Amino acid sequence: MQEDLDRVLFDEPTILRRLDELARDIVAEYQGRELTVIAVLNGSFIFMADLLRRIPLPLKLDCLSVASYHGETATTGEVVFKQIALPDVAGRHILILDDILDSGVTLAAIRDKLKTERPLSVKICVLLRKLKPRLHPVEADHVGFNIGDEFVVGYGLDYMERYRNLPCIGVLRKDRIAPAH
Ligand code: IMP
Ligand code: MG
Repeated sequence: MQEDLDRVLFDEPTILRRLDELARDIVAEYQGRELTVIAVLNGSFIFMADLLRRIPLPLKLDCLSVASYHGETATTGEVVFKQIALPDVAGRHILILDDILDSGVTLAAIRDKLKTERPLSVKICVLLRKLKPRLHPVEADHVGFNIGDEFVVGYGLDYMERYRNLPCIGVLRKDRIAPAH
């Protein structure tokens, strides 16, 4: 798998060191409040597991599953919620966890949907944020790393469901990406 990378952006020790810092910021912010984390699957599963074990606060966890990509490297703009019932968010402090802020379509749709259920607050934490103009006005409150506008895989992020189990994050070689049709 590693040979399909053009280059490694963040190795595992670098990611985990950054998670220590992110966790410290989140603990400081939610100290004394009950936190509900809503993780966006599948991309955030490794990030969620490593980050939450660094947050020694009482918290609740729910997972949401959405589809917006359909196996290509650019968003289709449509966000489909895969579960019938949304997590119970009314009256709670919500922290949404996702792998990457790219076009913003997914996080804007999730944030707007959760806000209709009257939470006390909604904040967003992403492992990666692509520095680019976004289709949808959404900003992350906690960011692991800023990256350029390149397609990355590993540490939970996939290309056509592969590479999620790579321990590092890297830029996928262009010749591994199927031409757009
Ligand atoms: P959005 O474009 O911000 O809506 O991103 C939607 C989803 O696309 C993210 O949650 C990721 O699962 C996926 N995605 C966006 N950029 C990348 C990338 O560079 N590598 C792998 N997945 C990506
Ligand atoms: Mg995802």
